Amino acid sequence: MRFGVFLPNGRNGYILSKAAPLYMPTFKHNLAITQEAERQGLDFVLSMIKFRGFGGETGFWDACLDSINLTSALAAATTKIGLVATISLLSTHPAVAARMIATLDDISGGRGGLNIVTGWNRAEYAQMGLWPGDHYYEQRYEFADEYLSILRSLWRTGRVDHDGKFFQLKDCVCEPRPQREIPIVCAGQSPQGVRFTAEHGDHNFVMSSKSGLKRITQNLGEAAAKAGRKVGTYALFVMVAAETDAEAHAQANAILEGADTVAIAGMLGSAALDTVEGGSSNRLREAMGTPLDEGNMAFLSFPALIGSYESVAQQIDAIEADCGIEGMLLTFPDFVQGTRDFGTRVRPLLRGGAAASASRHIAA
Ligand SMILES: Cc1cc2nc3c(=O)[nH]c(=O)nc-3n(C[C@H](O)[C@H](O)[C@H](O)COP(=O)(O)O)c2cc1C
Repeated sequence: MRFGVFLPNGRNGYILSKAAPLYMPTFKHNLAITQEAERQGLDFVLSMIKFRGFGGETGFWDACLDSINLTSALAAATTKIGLVATISLLSTHPAVAARMIATLDDISGGRGGLNIVTGWNRAEYAQMGLWPGDHYYEQRYEFADEYLSILRSLWRTGRVDHDGKFFQLKDCVCEPRPQREIPIVCAGQSPQGVRFTAEHGDHNFVMSSKSGLKRITQNLGEAAAKAGRKVGTYALFVMVAAETDAEAHAQANAILEGADTVAIAGMLGSAALDTVEGGSSNRLREAMGTPLDEGNMAFLSFPALIGSYESVAQQIDAIEADCGIEGMLLTFPDFVQGTRDFGTRVRPLLRGGAAASASRHIAA
C-alpha cells in the first residue's frame, strides 16, 4: 500500500476545532512536512486549492497557499517524493495549466501529478466573476472531460485545435512537453465524479467512512473495468496516535468538544447549495453527528485512525484487508510530528504488504 500526506496549505489544515493546532499556512511548514515524509519513505504529498475560507473562531481555510506554486518550490527542495499539485478548472485556462504542470514536471524531474478539481463551492468562484451559473453544478464533469482532453493533447503533441462546448483553441501550442504521461488524480465522489475518474484518471481519492470504503472501491473498480481501465482508490484519514489508546482518544475527544461550529455551519451552508446528489456535499451535511472513526465534521468528515501506535497499525491492516484500497492519504493534528510518528512508530508495525511501497511515488 502507498501512503501520502495531504499537505495543510490552507489555514489550520483539515480540523475545524479550537482544540487543535491553529496556524497560518506557510512554505516553511509545508516544506518541513514534505522533507519529513521523504525521510520516512512516504510516497507522495498532495496540496489543495481553496479561494475562500469558512471563517468562524478559527478562521478555517481563510488563507491558502497556491498549490502549483507551492508544489514547484517543494519539488526544487526534494529529490524522491511524488508531488501532486491541484488545479481548479474554473480559475485556470487549460493551456495555462498545461504549461504550469509541464514546468512542474521539469523542476521535479518527473515526480509531478495533477489533481483535477472541478469546484463545488460557488462562493470561491463567484467572488472573482468566474462562476458560470448554477447549471455548472450538474455540468462540472462534462467541463472536466473537455478540459482534460485539451491538457492531454497539449502534453502529447504540443499543439491543439479544439472547438468544443466550453473551449475554443486554435492552433494553440505549448512547449516544453512533459517527458512522460502526467498522472491524473481526482476526488470526485458523486456518480459523475466517479465516472470521470474511472474513464480518465489514474487514481481516485475518496472521503468515505470506513464502512463505506469497500463499496466505493468496488464501484470505482467496476466503472473503470467497463472503460477497460484500472484505477486505484486512495482513502483519506486523520491519524490521532499516541503512546496509549487513552491518550489518543482524549486528544480526539478534546478536538471534538472544541469544534468550531460557526466554520462548520459556513461549510455546510456552501455544501447545501450543491445540487448534485451522492457526492461530498451530501457527505459533509451528514457528518455533524457521525462517530469519529466514521468521519465527524470536526475532522472535516475524514474518518479517524485513533489509538496507540500498535492499535493504529492494526486498524490500517484491517482496512487494507477489507477494502482493497491502493493507498491512504493521511492528515494529522500536528503534521510534522504525525508524519514522523507514522514513519517510525506505525509503519514498521504494519503487515508486510502494507509496509512496503510498490514504488517510490504516485507518479511512477
Ligand atoms: C483528497 C481530496 C482533495 C481535494 N482537493 C480539493 C481542492 O483542492 N479544492 C477543492 O475545491 N476541492 C477539493 N476536493 C473536493 C473534490 O475535488 C470534489 O469536488 C469533492 O470531493 C466533491 O465530489 P463531487 O465533485 O463528485 O461531488 C478534494 C477532495 C479530496 C477528497
